[in-house]
Amino acid sequence: MSGNSFGAADGAAVATGNPAGGAAAEAAGGAVLRPHAEESFAAELAALAAADDRPRPERWRLSPWAVATYLLGGTLADGTVITPKYVGPRRIVEVAVTTLATDRALLLLGVPGTAKTWVSEHLAAAVSGDSTLLVQGTAGTPEEAIRYGWNYAQLLANGPSREALVPSPVMRAMAQGMTARVEELTRIPADVQDSLITVLSEKTLPVPELGQEVQAVRGFNLIATANDRDRGVNELSSALRRRFNTVVLPLPATPEEEVDIVSRRVGQIGRSLDLPAGPEGMDEIRRVVTVFRELRSGLTADGRTKLKSPSGTLSTAEAISVVTNGLALATHFGDGVLRSGDVAAGILGAVVRDPAADRVVWQEYLDTVVRERDGWKDFYRACREVSA
Ligand SMILES: Nc1ncnc2c1ncn2[C@@H]1O[C@H](COP(=O)(O)OP(=O)(O)O)[C@@H](O)[C@H]1O
Ligand SMILES: [Mg+2]
Repeated sequence: MSGNSFGAADGAAVATGNPAGGAAAEAAGGAVLRPHAEESFAAELAALAAADDRPRPERWRLSPWAVATYLLGGTLADGTVITPKYVGPRRIVEVAVTTLATDRALLLLGVPGTAKTWVSEHLAAAVSGDSTLLVQGTAGTPEEAIRYGWNYAQLLANGPSREALVPSPVMRAMAQGMTARVEELTRIPADVQDSLITVLSEKTLPVPELGQEVQAVRGFNLIATANDRDRGVNELSSALRRRFNTVVLPLPATPEEEVDIVSRRVGQIGRSLDLPAGPEGMDEIRRVVTVFRELRSGLTADGRTKLKSPSGTLSTAEAISVVTNGLALATHFGDGVLRSGDVAAGILGAVVRDPAADRVVWQEYLDTVVRERDGWKDFYRACREVSA
């Protein structure tokens, strides 16, 4: 179909986009602040591709089994260790990966900080080898960001033409049979969201100005993420919602699981910032996770004392950033060992979002729980110091 020919042309442009970016980064000393998942984990992805003898859906880099292994971690027959990216129920990952191999799109739903964005990036990296076909959803996301726009200089000079058309990441993914990503779908105005309906149901994107269309080729699918906290999924029109399989990402089920997530991720971030994370920091990580879980659930870990919950989400992601900041403090202004004093200010900042109400909640928690707890004296003192 002729409509797809300009998709292919775009494909060529896109295909050179990444390596060119990589070359620029190398010129700057290879010091990209945050490489894409497919670059950070290129070795793991290559090892998986080499070991993978299961059937792959068309244009997939890996079989569904290998994609799930990439996300959940494992050891390959040749001994290569695949690090877990997502810590949580295996079934969730299996359902998510399977969905991408069907004609339904994937909606990752959950409270903030449950790794929706993280999982979406790693899925796209593993399935298509490219996680960058991304639309960031905001209240101001225009329809062009999902469909296509125009290069106005070209448009004015030559009128509408294939050269003047600027494809969106979704259009490029359709033309190349890749995975597109839409972040924070429910923040996008309803009428703009609806431009996805034709894409997902008819698998085509009409370009009436040119009398053409871009038809999705096999391998195309879309991963959207949405928070069910700040604005409900109800904001998703039912017509659009029917095109998605929804997978809800839960908060970590146990403290051990959450400590594992935080320490793993802090280790990775610490390495990329040259912050050496020693095993000594584990006590503080456990403490941050305990405080977050207790305040989040409104109940102490022993189940004995009811607590008021503060207004913030106290997500795993926030715990990760509290510990990372603490580690930076310890490295630059302490003796390199993460201690209570390094995380206290961060915890206070995460807990006290509303200066009046949350401060009361925090003070009560300090006085009734933290003060009385064995081995928490230093932490109590550090919190008192920063709260004053
Ligand atoms: N279950 C989990 N497994 C692995 N990492 C997690 C998990 N939950 C949270 N994280 C970490 O939390 C961080 C933030 O997650 P993010 O994807 O931005 O959250 P969301 O998009 O749901 O708000 C990521 O760095 C991720 O590593
Ligand atoms: Mg997100």
